[in-house]
Amino acid sequence: MDDFYVADFERIVAPEETSLDSDIETSLRPKTLPEYIGQEKVKDNLKVYIDAALGRGEPLDHVLLYGPPGLGKTTLAGIIANEMNVQIRVTSGPAIEKPGDLAALLTNLNEGDVLFIDEVHRLSRSVEEVLYPALEDYALDIIIGKGPSARSLRIDLPRFTLVGATTRAGQLSAPLRDRFGVILRLETYSPDELSRIVRRSSGILKIDITQEGCLELASRSRGTPRIANRLLKRTRDFAQVSGAGEITREIAEDALGRMEIDELGLDMVDRLLLKAMVENYNGGPVGLETISAAIGEESVTIEDVYEPYLMQLGFLARTPRGRKVTPAGYRHLGLTCPEDDNGQISILFEE
Ligand code: ADE
Repeated sequence: MDDFYVADFERIVAPEETSLDSDIETSLRPKTLPEYIGQEKVKDNLKVYIDAALGRGEPLDHVLLYGPPGLGKTTLAGIIANEMNVQIRVTSGPAIEKPGDLAALLTNLNEGDVLFIDEVHRLSRSVEEVLYPALEDYALDIIIGKGPSARSLRIDLPRFTLVGATTRAGQLSAPLRDRFGVILRLETYSPDELSRIVRRSSGILKIDITQEGCLELASRSRGTPRIANRLLKRTRDFAQVSGAGEITREIAEDALGRMEIDELGLDMVDRLLLKAMVENYNGGPVGLETISAAIGEESVTIEDVYEPYLMQLGFLARTPRGRKVTPAGYRHLGLTCPEDDNGQISILFEE
């Protein structure tokens, strides 16, 4: 029964920001492009656009950052503002409820400022309508009055840069997407890049860690800096309590083992999900609702939170008849996939 409680806690391997992250994320955030590790292509291009805009004395074109959560979109927005020597205002799609909320934000900007809208795909239609002339002409069109006496008033805005971030670029309306001059896609990080991020973070947090320790944490962080930094913080607790001055590979392995995070970064719920499918439904295909009932998690949570990484690893497949555990998924659980056997047998018969 213990298994079923775990899902209700904040997961240490969740890529989304949680209340536990805010304190360290702020102190660990790089402020300049050279400090930012990884995303080399994005950085190279961004540097050109920033240098060019600075050279012309103009604000940077509007920028859209998209990609999975936890990869540093907010951090990059802060860096853009810093490198452009301007202020940043931070908000999110769902926080801007009415056109008036957006108008208030826009009229309070200074020349050249960055307006960062996280989850920009969640802006309402009516707010988007106000945003278009602001992006294109740096202007707000306000309707005063109603009926035949209604008048339209145009207010000039300071020239600004919108930096929009989204995990779901596909959900962005086409007119909004078209108004971003720069569109950048963030990718998951390699173990080497994550290891460098862990090294940098441990320097800031004054944690002693060996090179192997960095790599061990990096390789279990699902390609996501936010998870790597979280694992570093938790592992520091284990190192401290065990009396070890330094995080070594052994200390990291032990700490992650105790947190039940395996060598690929799967946690207990990930494995529970795969196991439930194997043990109760022969590995599938099985419907999402059935899995949801079996492990006591809502189907949207399974779909949005657990499945993406399992599919990225190739452990789970979505088929028209339902979800299936793949042979690689079986192997990760230390089991042999029945289909592997069938496959071999049919080959034998064919011969
Ligand atoms: N912390 C989180 N993401 C980072 C990155 N890409 N580079 C350096 N430190 C980070």
